[in-house]
Amino acid sequence: MTELTQYARWFRDSTPYISAHRKKTFVVLLPGDAVVHEHVTSIVHDLALLSVLGARVVLVHGARPQIDAAISAAGLAPRYHAHRRITDQDTIALVEAAVAHVRAKIEGLFCLGLPNTPLHNTRINVLSGNLVTARPVGVVDGVDHLFTGRVRTIHHELIDTLLDVGAIVLLSPLGYSPSGEAFNLSSEELAAEVAIAIGADKLISFDELSRFIDDEARPRSEINPDALERMLPGAQISEWSRKTLAELVRACRAGVPRCHLVGYREDGALLRSSSRGGLRHAGDGGRHAAHPSRDDRRRGRHRRADPPARVDRRAGEALARRLETEIERFFVAELDGIVVGCCALYPFDGTGAGELACLAMHPGYRDNPVANGAALVRRIESEARRLGLRQLFLLTTQARDWFKEQGFVDATVDDLPPEEGAVQLPA
Ligand SMILES: CC(C)(COP(=O)(O)OP(=O)(O)OC[C@H]1O[C@@H](n2cnc3c(N)ncnc32)[C@H](O)[C@@H]1OP(=O)(O)O)[C@@H](O)C(=O)NCCC(=O)NCCS
Repeated sequence: MTELTQYARWFRDSTPYISAHRKKTFVVLLPGDAVVHEHVTSIVHDLALLSVLGARVVLVHGARPQIDAAISAAGLAPRYHAHRRITDQDTIALVEAAVAHVRAKIEGLFCLGLPNTPLHNTRINVLSGNLVTARPVGVVDGVDHLFTGRVRTIHHELIDTLLDVGAIVLLSPLGYSPSGEAFNLSSEELAAEVAIAIGADKLISFDELSRFIDDEARPRSEINPDALERMLPGAQISEWSRKTLAELVRACRAGVPRCHLVGYREDGALLRSSSRGGLRHAGDGGRHAAHPSRDDRRRGRHRRADPPARVDRRAGEALARRLETEIERFFVAELDGIVVGCCALYPFDGTGAGELACLAMHPGYRDNPVANGAALVRRIESEARRLGLRQLFLLTTQARDWFKEQGFVDATVDDLPPEEGAVQLPA
């Protein structure tokens, strides 16, 4: 076979590959360690190739080693709790600088266009922006995570618009809250959230591991989420690989049809992670049921809770006792006759103050236009006014930002009513 025939055959054989990727949406996670690996240039070229072939690519980058190095160089020690960074006032500026540096490096790599390089004469547009809103992680196990955040909202319509013009969308592990504060995000979580929010066809995570392994430590090119989850706790892998795999499982369960693990130490591994294999539900052809609350306009109301006919004690003895004895303090959000949320008001005798407590909405019915947390808070406020209370306070570990958006302000312990005026809350 001549060289020309070989070339023609190779080119023809690429047709199925091209048609399998055109107009498909891929979210790709590139962790900070991959950014400093010698293969990063070829990884960027492979991503550019996917984009040129018509794939819609969102690239989420990490910066963990770069942030750790910046913190150490400043004479501080990187702090983690349960493998999640704690970002304090001193470190958030270092995080922002390290993330900006990594992003600039990636943008630069997409501009490499010298003769004899794959990107010669090819223009790849890489676009970033304020596409992710964040909220604080808050206090977990008694540890305040300060400027470490979770994804709050992915502005998926804007991402879609950028993908429609053929750009690669580059997302950094930073998000901003509605109060304008920056929060450091976990890139693994961000990639999974983006893939779920934009309805990606694939989530591809680069990692030091190059393939899935099952609970007997056998390498697997294809695996289902249950099998992968079973092997996670005991697997001899780094905590970051464990986190990457756990997020792939989460994305898969939330309806991302295929999730791939790609080793950054293997040159060209991205292109080999073809349309076969990966993490997926056995026999799962479609997405899971849509979020039930988004678009419905059903009958909702917020009312005082009824006395329970019977309390399910499996919910916990303390909670059952509280519901039985304090049900008159509770208000519920109801949708089509189903209780989907609750909130309680505890007046503090003789102080003019009351505590708003136990606010929770069923996760399947959040952000509903008619029955929602904000409306429950308004209901509690009007009840507080009816009782002649002048001050409403609450204690929260993870919803400070949310309550600020409802008009609450930060307070100190000294602002709380004196303990002797307090009603005795059961343990
Ligand atoms: C807080 C809560 C009651 C609000 O319920 P809801 O009115 O149905 O609203 P959603 O959960 O859809 O959230 C609405 C918005 O607030 C954001 N949000 C939710 N919880 C948040 C939190 N803890 N911090 C900051 N933002 C939050 C959502 O991301 C969403 O953002 P978006 O509008 O930008 O998309 C509900 O999220 C919940 O039950 N959370 C768990 C329990 C809890 O934290 N209770 C507070 C007691 S201290």
